[in-house]
Amino acid sequence: MSIENYKILFLEHLKKKVTFNKPENLYRPITYILNLGGKRLRPILTLLSCSLFDGNITNALDAALAIEMFHNFSLVHDDIMDDAPMRRGKETVHKKWDTNTGILSGDAMLVLSNQLLESYEGVTYKKLCHLFNKTALEVCEGQQYDIDFETRTEVTVDEYLTMISLKTAVLVATSLQFGAIIASANENDMENIYQYGLNLGIAFQLQDDYLDVFGGNNFGKQKAGDIIENKKTFLYLKALVLAKEKDREKLLQLYSNKRANNSKIAQVIELFEKYKIPEITSKEIEKYTHKANENVSNLSICDDKKEVLRVFAEKLMTREV
Ligand code: IPE
Ligand code: IPE
Ligand code: MG
Ligand code: MG
Ligand code: MG
Repeated sequence: MSIENYKILFLEHLKKKVTFNKPENLYRPITYILNLGGKRLRPILTLLSCSLFDGNITNALDAALAIEMFHNFSLVHDDIMDDAPMRRGKETVHKKWDTNTGILSGDAMLVLSNQLLESYEGVTYKKLCHLFNKTALEVCEGQQYDIDFETRTEVTVDEYLTMISLKTAVLVATSLQFGAIIASANENDMENIYQYGLNLGIAFQLQDDYLDVFGGNNFGKQKAGDIIENKKTFLYLKALVLAKEKDREKLLQLYSNKRANNSKIAQVIELFEKYKIPEITSKEIEKYTHKANENVSNLSICDDKKEVLRVFAEKLMTREV
């Protein structure tokens, strides 16, 4: 089955399952954000993984929806925390409604994602719940580091990598392991598909940071939102490492307060370009994509199936998925 077909199957399931009643101000924001689109990367990975390990993908649909529900919950709260006005080309929930609505609708989505796992029984249920709760807590940890780093001056690239592993990569890894759990894959495969997801997720967040600045106007989010918010992204940290003393000081100065304007953004971009940060970031994205593809070799599935995972990783790198 093609990636596009997994997406169609997932969207049909979403349409069937996500129907709510009252109170409208709790549920409308949930249907709003879930129907805004998005790539559906994580549920696709759950279905794909289940199928690669010879599982029945119909059984994986609720788990895929649980993951997408959790992802959308994290976005609603993330947009409040990042003060983001735009998501998927439309107004964010807390802008369209208000912050309290975003908080509570987000909370409800977190509960709903747990509830979706109740479709499973026995050992499968236990494994899914265990992994899900572990991951959800890690995402919170990553989000806290992300916020802490905004106001911390000394952050290393290694600390950044830990932060993005937590806030982003573990959920991508979990999406894949969910499919493996439902398909009753063996322990080795379960671990290796998780590692593939971790590296893929790191590449994915690096790419997100890159696109935030250099992604043009069709990225669906406020342009350079990370610069406005003083996010300690790979781009910024690498620039700090490479910049000559004067430029380093300038960059530190630019990130020392939150009153962002077009001039701040332009100056930061100029420095990034001066130190070849776009090229360096692209190389780093490739590095983690290749790491992911190395993990594929350790799986016990046939070569054709391995190729599906490798092609997926390559395509994700250019956001063709
Ligand atoms: C956005 O995730 C948040 C990150 C972890 C970078 P996606 O880029 O997968 O968002 P959608 O679901 O496709 O909109
Ligand atoms: C998002 O990181 C991570 C989570 C939502 C957990 P970002 O803050 O970079 O995501 P975007 O760019 O707003 O989608
Ligand atoms: Mg954000
Ligand atoms: Mg954020
Ligand atoms: Mg981002």
